[in-house]
Amino acid sequence: MHVCVIGTGYVGLVTGVCLSHIGHHVICVDNNEEKVQLMKAGQSPIYEPGLSDLMQSSMATGNLEFTSDLGVGVDHGDILFIAVGTPALPTGESDTRYVEAVARGIGEHLNGGYKVIVNKSTVPIGSGDWVRMIVLDGIAEQQKVLVGAGAPARSKSSDAAFDVVSNPEFLREGSAVFDTFNPDRIVLGSDSEKAIAMMKELYTPIVERNFAEDTDAPQVPVVVTDLSSAEMVKYASNAFLATKISFINEVANICDRVGADVTQVARGIGLDSRIGSKFLQAGIGWGGSCFPKDVSALLHTAEDYGYEAELLRATINVNTRQRLLTVEKLQQVLKILKGKTVGLLGLTFKPDTDDMRDAPSLIMIESLNRLGAKVKAYDPIVSQSGVSQGLSGVIVETDPERLADGCDALVLVTDWSKFRNLDYKKMASLMNTPVMIDGRNFLDQKQLEEAGFRYVGVGR
Ligand code: UDX
Ligand code: UDX
Repeated sequence: MHVCVIGTGYVGLVTGVCLSHIGHHVICVDNNEEKVQLMKAGQSPIYEPGLSDLMQSSMATGNLEFTSDLGVGVDHGDILFIAVGTPALPTGESDTRYVEAVARGIGEHLNGGYKVIVNKSTVPIGSGDWVRMIVLDGIAEQQKVLVGAGAPARSKSSDAAFDVVSNPEFLREGSAVFDTFNPDRIVLGSDSEKAIAMMKELYTPIVERNFAEDTDAPQVPVVVTDLSSAEMVKYASNAFLATKISFINEVANICDRVGADVTQVARGIGLDSRIGSKFLQAGIGWGGSCFPKDVSALLHTAEDYGYEAELLRATINVNTRQRLLTVEKLQQVLKILKGKTVGLLGLTFKPDTDDMRDAPSLIMIESLNRLGAKVKAYDPIVSQSGVSQGLSGVIVETDPERLADGCDALVLVTDWSKFRNLDYKKMASLMNTPVMIDGRNFLDQKQLEEAGFRYVGVGR
């Protein structure tokens, strides 16, 4: 099928590349000309395991193209994905101005022929109808211009030549390609049977697991709902996962005080099939471009409709406090932090990504600088990428041993797999005081203590 994906960020680019890989002809549109040139040269502007190879193979078959011209994309696609950013405003509400700009632009370029317009970006509940209204505005705008130029006014019927579908994404950064080919479910929200049928056709190869790790696994469930329910599925999923993490972090904080080990507790509760063992890793909490934004947006939506979502507010508050827990632990161990040197192992909000958006490390850096500590950092990707946003005042080292050199303590911030087997004995010998605050309970306490470290975990 002919597909257009508008917005080539962490979600849009992965969606476009994967849809082209399963056989569709995809044109990706982005208004950032620099990004478009990079992608035309076969370069991915984001780090996502497996993405570059798929991108290049699809470009070689002619199934994947890039442009900054929205009109070209709208003309090409029978299905148009809106995958532009919906960042959080300072108030916590979703900033939907990019979605609005793109929806209007689509309306202005529609020229007959039925289209399915898909909200892939996470948009506030009730936005489906709002997107429809904006596309109609765009059509009216275009008509005004055309009629002004002497063209005959189009019949009303052509206005309804589109339907809006909500198709939320559940991609985890660092495994977005895998998650696209191996989804737990596909959610489609629309009241148009025609649109739902086209979306089911689009996803057939994925539903049938033709590109999955386990091609014999049962078909992927397709959940068809109304527009608002599909939008709510996205927010409720992320809010539940965030709440599950804040729950285990709350348990960890109690474990710290009663001398229990939260990693053993997590194993003990996770074996209950009603709880499940995933997302029970206690530590400095969640960051990234989705959980913080989506939980805040859901909280604001509740408030807009006169409901005080106390549990969501508590989920956010526990997480906010958790980020500074490692600074408190540093103060307990080192006492005065002024003049001390602290080394951060990892900067990104999770491993296997280059995304620094709302990374817990940024709040820790701010707090440590305020307390007069000198901050050094090493991150497998950020150290090489030259990313400097939010890292003013931080000495970014290019390897863990240079990081350890002269430090009074190390803090494991991101559970990169390579941090499991560093030469901790050597690192301890390079430090003023070999202290390790394991912010993700990721390291082997015994191994660290044998290497000469004083090991401090979270809730263990
Ligand atoms: C986005 C949304 O932010 C998130 O809510 C949703 O869950 C998934 O899609 P992400 O892909 O990370 O997440 O967005 P981002 O990385 O900000 O990329 C957005 C892309 O859209 C950028 O490349 C930007 O250049 C492009 N864009 C933005 C347009 O092409 N047109 C615009 O008008 C605005
Ligand atoms: C999340 C959702 O998982 C995904 O379905 C949605 O589409 C986008 O948001 P992402 O934010 O990319 O994906 O990463 P995820 O693996 O969910 O981790 C989010 C944060 O939670 C990270 O900061 C991670 O360190 C933290 N986390 C995760 C924990 O602190 N403990 C855990 O047990 C799991």
